[in-house]
Amino acid sequence: MCGIVGYIGRSEALPVLMDGLRRLEYRGYDSSGVAILNGGSLAVRKAVGRIANLAELIQSEPVHGQVGISHTRWATHGGVTHENAHPHLDQSGHLSLVHNGVIENYQKLREQLTERSHVFQSQTDTEVLAHLVGEAFDRSERRDKAALVEAVREALRQVIGTYGIAVLHADVPGILVGARRGSPLVLGIGKNEHFLASDVSAIVAHTRDVVYLNDYEIVAIQDDRFEISTVSGSGADFQISKVEFSAEAVDKGRFPHYMLKEIYEQPNSVRDAMRGRLSAEEATAKLGGLEMTNADLRSVDRIVLSGCGTAFHAALAGEYLIESLAHIPVECEFASEFRYRNLPLDRDTLVFVISQSGETADTLAALRESQRKGHRTLGICNNVASTIARESDGGVYMHAGPEIGVAATKSFTSQLVILTLLGLLLGRIRHLSHAEGRTIISEMEKLPDLIARTIELDKQIEKIAKKYARAENFLFMGRQANYPIALEGALKLKEISYISASGYPSAELKHGVIALINEETPSLFIAPQDAVFDQNVSNIEEVKARKGPVIAIGTEGDTALAKICDDVILIPHAPDYLTPILAVLPLQLLAYHIAATLGCDVDKPRNLAKSVTVE
Ligand code: AGP
Repeated sequence: MCGIVGYIGRSEALPVLMDGLRRLEYRGYDSSGVAILNGGSLAVRKAVGRIANLAELIQSEPVHGQVGISHTRWATHGGVTHENAHPHLDQSGHLSLVHNGVIENYQKLREQLTERSHVFQSQTDTEVLAHLVGEAFDRSERRDKAALVEAVREALRQVIGTYGIAVLHADVPGILVGARRGSPLVLGIGKNEHFLASDVSAIVAHTRDVVYLNDYEIVAIQDDRFEISTVSGSGADFQISKVEFSAEAVDKGRFPHYMLKEIYEQPNSVRDAMRGRLSAEEATAKLGGLEMTNADLRSVDRIVLSGCGTAFHAALAGEYLIESLAHIPVECEFASEFRYRNLPLDRDTLVFVISQSGETADTLAALRESQRKGHRTLGICNNVASTIARESDGGVYMHAGPEIGVAATKSFTSQLVILTLLGLLLGRIRHLSHAEGRTIISEMEKLPDLIARTIELDKQIEKIAKKYARAENFLFMGRQANYPIALEGALKLKEISYISASGYPSAELKHGVIALINEETPSLFIAPQDAVFDQNVSNIEEVKARKGPVIAIGTEGDTALAKICDDVILIPHAPDYLTPILAVLPLQLLAYHIAATLGCDVDKPRNLAKSVTVE
């Protein structure tokens, strides 16, 4: 949510900042801006809307300099206006600051600053922070690096809330200061240049050597050195890491949108989620990151899975998968409710939080609440450097690679694979025989090919999408583990095409939803050849009897569905516990093509941001 890029070095800052902002635009796209220092002179350019608007402005009003900060905004405090766009200035107009996060006590601080004659230009919490830092700096007798770092420290001690910030001051032109608490910030180390970014994808084209800052850390960067300390004033230990992926991994390549690229990446991302984790010899899954012995896992008698949005849908599917493979009761909790629910967590309950970004504020709060209760809490994350990955007591990485499209796709199937691996591992410690374990492994190994075959249905799905793109309402139905897939299909369609869509267990239809059926409302049924196929068919008949159009996802070889449905998409056969991973693919493609047909901005849907780092 919001993106920050900072640069200091011997090259022009602007191209680095603009390239970084474009790569971060998926994190927020209400407005953007840059502040560049040229010697002692500070230039700020801001524009409402997409980065393209900022680029246009800069073309007519160029800026030069080798030190700069920039920001792409997802509005929290204050509307989407030029004044509220970052960077913000302090009272003197010499200090500029960009900020991700929320300063909760900003109203009180603003009143106090106003009493001290500060005048504000915006409604944001960020401007208050800029004024606080500027005021502290102006109180200092020195005009040097130490004074600016100290001023940042002093200001941060007064704020309550979360921040990832980058600050520069015209009186100290050879230095940039960054700090974080609750909002990620990474330092990039180059040759005679350094970078700050809220997400490594913004700077990976320039360097793969990075330091992921911890909460309450402050970094001061110059072209040839950096120093990390803490808000309390002590030194900080840090570790230089190598970014695992290359700049190409965050490019669209031959695809028109990141979302489509990421859908097509799923044979590989699913293979990577399983890589090294299937043991044919022991007929089980190996999940060393859990850091639990088989004896520890054997005593688990209940599992809680928590996440938001798509990750919550993965949790719901995980409930079916783990209960059927391991016979352990599973409960799913919205991460946003977790900390307010006071969920009983018995000693033998295993808690997992699931998050692609590893930065979702609600999911992080669920992790912390569970840990606060003294409960060992595990993470299923994609972003290895994320706060959730670092704070959880163990877990499993998705290894899906960077996911840039705001609509989660490949991370969802990776989450399902990991939950299936967990089901296999726990099942093998209990009732699953060696032979059953071997069968599950050999079925899982076929998944990448089955996914590739399913994605080949793209052209057929595109045609179906064009046929239904003008519908105003959509219903998605499925049973058992395909019910969460129906929810996920509805979410995908809603978030990128703005068509109203809901997901239900198929049989719920007659308990109210059927009132929505008419000739204009398509219903999509996930109806593979499984134990509840006939029941699904009965529900489809109920819709057809009321003249509702039906699209069905069935299994290859099925001939029954074509007789009653308007459109049928046949996916490869797989065991029930793997079918959800295949069934979601046509729904991702359907949502994608409907949104593209309607001319929607698929990768950057309105009002959304890729990772939601506010409550
Ligand atoms: C999915 O398409 C959404 N963009 C959203 O629901 C997302 O899954 C949710 O915000 C959780 O994100 P996370 O996995 O990064 O925690």
